[in-house]
Amino acid sequence: MNTDTLLSLASAFALEGDIAEIRPLGEGFINDTFIVRTASADTPDYILQRKNSSIFADVPAMMENIRKVTAHIRGKVIAEGGNPMREVMTIVPLRDNAAKYVHTDAEGGCWTVSVFISDTIAYDRADTPALARMGGLGIGRFQAQLADFTDTLTPTIPGFHDIAFRFGQWDASLKADAAGRATSVAAEIEAIESRRARMLEYHELVRTGVIPARVTHNDTKINNILFGKDGRVLCVIDLDTVMSAPVHNDFGDAIRTYANTGAEDDSDLSRVGLSMPMFEAYADGYLSCQAPILTKPELDYLAFSAIYITYEQVLRFLMDYIDGDKYYKTKDAEHNLRRTRAQLRLLESMEENYPAMTEAIARIAHKYRTEITQ
Ligand SMILES: Nc1ncnc2c1ncn2[C@@H]1O[C@H](COP(=O)(O)OP(=O)(O)O)[C@@H](O)[C@H]1O
Ligand SMILES: [Mg+2]
Repeated sequence: MNTDTLLSLASAFALEGDIAEIRPLGEGFINDTFIVRTASADTPDYILQRKNSSIFADVPAMMENIRKVTAHIRGKVIAEGGNPMREVMTIVPLRDNAAKYVHTDAEGGCWTVSVFISDTIAYDRADTPALARMGGLGIGRFQAQLADFTDTLTPTIPGFHDIAFRFGQWDASLKADAAGRATSVAAEIEAIESRRARMLEYHELVRTGVIPARVTHNDTKINNILFGKDGRVLCVIDLDTVMSAPVHNDFGDAIRTYANTGAEDDSDLSRVGLSMPMFEAYADGYLSCQAPILTKPELDYLAFSAIYITYEQVLRFLMDYIDGDKYYKTKDAEHNLRRTRAQLRLLESMEENYPAMTEAIARIAHKYRTEITQ
């Protein structure tokens, strides 16, 4: 992408100051990201992004979700005397239409701009309990700031973490057996089937509202949290996937990734398992913000959410293997099966640790909130 093109794309937005340079930033997995430097120190720098429209079908709806959520958080930051230019993402509208946040280029690419938050520390992965705690704090604070959010959000990824929806796809996959692989993975299929009823029990609590929908981030990687130079959480970025869902989706997925002692596709299953120190550290950061807010059913199912989300991932990897590797990028013909087995080992490890996990959640919640009755 040449400089003139980038310059004209950036100029479509209501930027302050004159653009001095635009260059690519990092290597995001999803979007193409550029930094726009302005000439004066008095004007902010910006992040220019081409959103991945093969993942996000409706970018304007996604930006409307982000606008609502960031406006809500901004109100909280201001009320608490914080800095709204650093403690929340600020998206920038088009120069000629203050109500629009997406610029479409000649090829149909969708571009957006937000204010660049400078002087931050970012981490690529959380590999110590101290960092896991900061990750939990980042997402916990984000969810707490949105605890009284009542506006509606568009479900930008329909069926996300909805196990009943997944079972619909799963049953069809097994029936079709498109790649002729089903009989070779009978044991893994049985691992899914034997837990189906338990997963549907939880799903029923969500469907009936016993477990409420709140605002979830849905991409809780630690590199989506910006930290100040003092090491404190500034804000959560990469809000492309914010949706209305149970808080469990974020908690469970974070535990699945942060607290696995092996890799997601580890071929050596002896390396895979749940790290209780990482689990407790993440839970401690998370509950330091969220314990006073969550209802009893939400707290009671927090440990289970790690099992639920990991189970869903086993199902999705196995289903893609059965389908003939249509969805996930694979390195070889057995990659989805390796992923299935590694995530299944993690799931079993969580099940073994489940009593310890529930004890830890109760203990930590109690630390941050003495009375849990409702
Ligand atoms: N507003 C911002 N301020 C500072 N850095 C940012 C900002 N937005 C994005 N970044 C940087 O760009 C990277 C990629 O952006 P992100 O929105 O996370 O895209 P992706 O979906 O591709 O991960 C982030 O990990 C972060 O380092
Ligand atoms: Mg990101």
